[in-house]
Amino acid sequence: MFESIKKLFSTNVEEPQPAVEKRVENFESAEKIFEHFKAVTGMNFNKKEEITKNKIINYCKRNGIYSFDELYQKITTSKDAMQKLIDYLTVNETFFYREIDQVELLCEIAKRSHDNFSILCAPCATGEEVYTIIISLLESGVSVHKINIVGIDINATAIEMAKEGKYSARSLNKLSESLIERYFTKKDDKFEIKNELKRMTTFMQMNVFDEKLKSIGKFDYIFSRNMFIYFNEEERRKATNAFCSLLKEHNGYMFFGHADKVEKTECLIEHHIGRTKLYLRA
Ligand SMILES: C[S@@+](CC[C@H](N)C(=O)[O-])C[C@H]1O[C@@H](n2cnc3c(N)ncnc32)[C@H](O)[C@@H]1O
Repeated sequence: MFESIKKLFSTNVEEPQPAVEKRVENFESAEKIFEHFKAVTGMNFNKKEEITKNKIINYCKRNGIYSFDELYQKITTSKDAMQKLIDYLTVNETFFYREIDQVELLCEIAKRSHDNFSILCAPCATGEEVYTIIISLLESGVSVHKINIVGIDINATAIEMAKEGKYSARSLNKLSESLIERYFTKKDDKFEIKNELKRMTTFMQMNVFDEKLKSIGKFDYIFSRNMFIYFNEEERRKATNAFCSLLKEHNGYMFFGHADKVEKTECLIEHHIGRTKLYLRA
């Protein structure tokens, strides 16, 4: 009898457990992710593939994703998932007064113009280039009312930061004290662009390969700096053609970054003013 009571209260009796699927991590080849990323953004990681692969593994682990296959499935079926990966992987390095010779040339040209003019910065990252152009134009005596400026970038987080317009002291390194005082308000350890300048801008999250690009209008001046360094020849050609269709035919000027390789196309003519290189519509 004792035996049967013991059995009744025994802790050794195995309770049926719910089946838990054991997920095994598998991060071998990121090739499919790289290919899809390039097809959407135009960007390739060339010699940085190993570093980028490790970055993607970290991204997966932080987001409870167990394999590259699972990530691939997500980014090819959900726009949101793809956008998150884009925001994570694109390099938004930029700062105020970067490659300023081209902006100075723009000021010289714009000063002589009697009409209003439009400028596109594609890509604009977190907005420093757009605000650099505005500050430089205002400092050259160009009227606020003449300037219409648009910044686009594929990175949605960068665009939100551009709209917010708050920057670290490091980003403002090249600006004089008096320029900082005139155009920024210090808030804790950040410098915020004044509202008068923010109101002059339009920032949009957009891919330069998106059909929607055609709908943003025509521009007198286009800046596309330090994006082509991530593109191969085919993407550089495609993007250049897209920019051509946005550049005004009469007196339209296009500026690329110093390190950007620009393919020869029928629609742009290389031109030099002093030591500064720019492109005109053919
Ligand atoms: C290094 S930043 C350059 C920013 C600024 N033009 C400058 O020169 O300082 C490169 C930017 O290109 C953007 N980018 C990359 N591929 C893009 C695409 N297909 N469409 C729009 N922006 C893109 C990235 O998000 C990143 O912010």
